[in-house]
Amino acid sequence: MNKLLSPFLISGYISKEYFCDRESEYEILKKNTQNGVNTTLISPRRLGKTGLIFHFFDSLKNEKDIQAIYVDIYSSLNIDDFIRLLAESILEKFPEKTSFGKKFLTLIKGFRPRFTFDSISGAPQIEFNYQSQNDKEYTLKQLLLFLDSQDTKIIIAIDEFQQIVNYPEKNIEAILRTYIQQLKNINFIFSGSQAHILAEMFLSSKRPFFSSTQFLNLEKIERSKYKEFIQYHFSQGDKAISEECIDYILDWTKGYTFYTQSVCNKVYRNKKIDLDVIKLECIGLMKEKEPSFFQYRNFLTPNQWKFLIALAKEEEIVQIYSYDFLNRYNLGTPSSAKRIVNSLLEREMILESNNKEGSSYSIYDVFLMRWLQLTY
Ligand SMILES: Nc1ncnc2c1ncn2[C@@H]1O[C@H](COP(=O)(O)OP(=O)(O)O)[C@@H](O)[C@H]1O
Ligand SMILES: [Mg+2]
Repeated sequence: MNKLLSPFLISGYISKEYFCDRESEYEILKKNTQNGVNTTLISPRRLGKTGLIFHFFDSLKNEKDIQAIYVDIYSSLNIDDFIRLLAESILEKFPEKTSFGKKFLTLIKGFRPRFTFDSISGAPQIEFNYQSQNDKEYTLKQLLLFLDSQDTKIIIAIDEFQQIVNYPEKNIEAILRTYIQQLKNINFIFSGSQAHILAEMFLSSKRPFFSSTQFLNLEKIERSKYKEFIQYHFSQGDKAISEECIDYILDWTKGYTFYTQSVCNKVYRNKKIDLDVIKLECIGLMKEKEPSFFQYRNFLTPNQWKFLIALAKEEEIVQIYSYDFLNRYNLGTPSSAKRIVNSLLEREMILESNNKEGSSYSIYDVFLMRWLQLTY
């Protein structure tokens, strides 16, 4: 393997050495797979859902009788896209030269699709031509039944699963649920970041997926474990980093995975590490994002922007409609605040976290929060 510039990854997955903790979550996924239980994996963006799926799948790579397929449906707009992405992931997993791949290709060719290859990645791309809605449902069903008929257990992770509620075909949930119920050898991991959409989908008795999966809520990585991980990798690179410095990083990033990885990634590239170096790297990261922060300001109303600044200053607030908070920052009445909060929640500019004590609110993007604190 090429020598890494930094052992703190900010995209993709290499091996468990570069992956921090998630042991209990890993065990849950493993147990669910053994017991044939489907899982719904939920957390805000950038906490490590996709990483956890890759980590789990990586551990299965030497198991002969389990095959793992990862499908990211973030870019999908309709059921056509869903089927295409699923088929492409299967093809990628089982290339034509494998016997499974050959059989799958024969099945696919029966639908007379058009094949192309991505000019950059070389990954296979498939375009189906459908005559009708029934045609699509038939294709989807055949893909799943084909996988199910192989003599191996299969796990399909569908990432960004909440995307399906935006499809124009409103019956997609019912269709999927019906097919999935008939499968014997396939287990699913449904992963997504919009907790309320997924909760509604899986917990409402009126919805097809009701009660069909086990929920796995991904939280922040435990601080002590993250500290150990950071310390370990710096010392592996013969770089000294004090506990004070690690604490500073974890406070600044609030312990969120992506932000912590990003800061550590940059800091690691320095020869000598102290608080000044870390602060400079943090500022550097904010500056990199500044153009997109200006964009936010352009598409938000002045009142929404003002609200974000106030929230950034508070970092985290429980009583978001209290007169105390609203008056302190001159944010208007509770009812106008409610409208602002709802639209900012919808745009994923602010994050609502629910716990035993109730809901608390914070800025979704930690870099934006720190930048607002610094700039205003
Ligand atoms: N347990 C972990 N240890 C180290 N890095 C991680 C871990 N989980 C995720 N990451 C890294 O953090 C970033 C965000 O994680 P990701 O899995 O993409 O989050 P999500 O899918 O929840 O949006 C990724 O770049 C990933 O490499
Ligand atoms: Mg993800």
